[in-house]
Amino acid sequence: MIMEIIVAKSAGFCFGVDRAVKSVYDNISNKPLYTYGPIIHNLQVVNELEDKGVKVVNNIEELRKLEKGKVIIRSHGVEEKIYEIIKDSGFSIVDATCPYVKKIHHIVNDYSKKGDTIIIIGDSTHPEVIGIKGWSTRETIIIENVEDAKKLDIPKDTHLCVVAQTTLNYLKYQEIIEIILDKGYHVDIKNTICRATRDRQEEAINLSKKVDKMLVIGGKHSSNTRKLYQLCKNQCDNTYHIETIEDLELLVFSKNEIIGITAGASTPKNIIQEVITHVRNTERN
Ligand code: F3S
Repeated sequence: MIMEIIVAKSAGFCFGVDRAVKSVYDNISNKPLYTYGPIIHNLQVVNELEDKGVKVVNNIEELRKLEKGKVIIRSHGVEEKIYEIIKDSGFSIVDATCPYVKKIHHIVNDYSKKGDTIIIIGDSTHPEVIGIKGWSTRETIIIENVEDAKKLDIPKDTHLCVVAQTTLNYLKYQEIIEIILDKGYHVDIKNTICRATRDRQEEAINLSKKVDKMLVIGGKHSSNTRKLYQLCKNQCDNTYHIETIEDLELLVFSKNEIIGITAGASTPKNIIQEVITHVRNTERN
């Protein structure tokens, strides 16, 4: 019998992150290149890029002190004013904002210009939400949870446009939307949740149901990887959260086993490939 390894199709980078990381590699030259914030939350990738001369800048003050060059906007996107400030500071921009996030910027901008009050459902400290808020031209309310939604108290004749952080949990979103609707406002609801996270989770759950061991690859502090691990663990007792092949040292894989592999949104393909190779090479009778 030969060991079977099944790798989830949705393992690793989503479309938007993949596109952003590629745009960094595509723009490497002998001219200064910066990313506005780390391009992804993966230390190996950020370090590798740094070795190639790509510097992470965390804010405009830092950027202004640096030699002029190109600035890459990561998939989370940024506030509208940041584009102006970067250009006015003499830098050029490569915009790698995920098109799904960009779409939210357009909605928020159009509806706020029409006079609607914007509601963003999401984490107020997350860069994506801060960026979205920065495209609204008027009052914007951030609702983080059910309690915030219950407390919403603005005049009944207010027109609202509601958008959501792309990675929001769908059930939480639905619950909040129902509370807002119950309050009787005139609301335009735009479901802007991206399916990438949900698809990855659903595929991981299904895969972990039919394997003997399930490996979930991703940063120990990555919340989406930890969530993936938990979902898989609920289905398969032998689920392991690993960052790199070093975490696999003590694990034995035998010939008659089916091994499932998935990975969080910030895990690059080469790390997934290393794990597959390692599992194959350590196979025992
Ligand atoms: Fe990824 Fe873009 Fe969705 S960054 S999670 S594909 S919104």
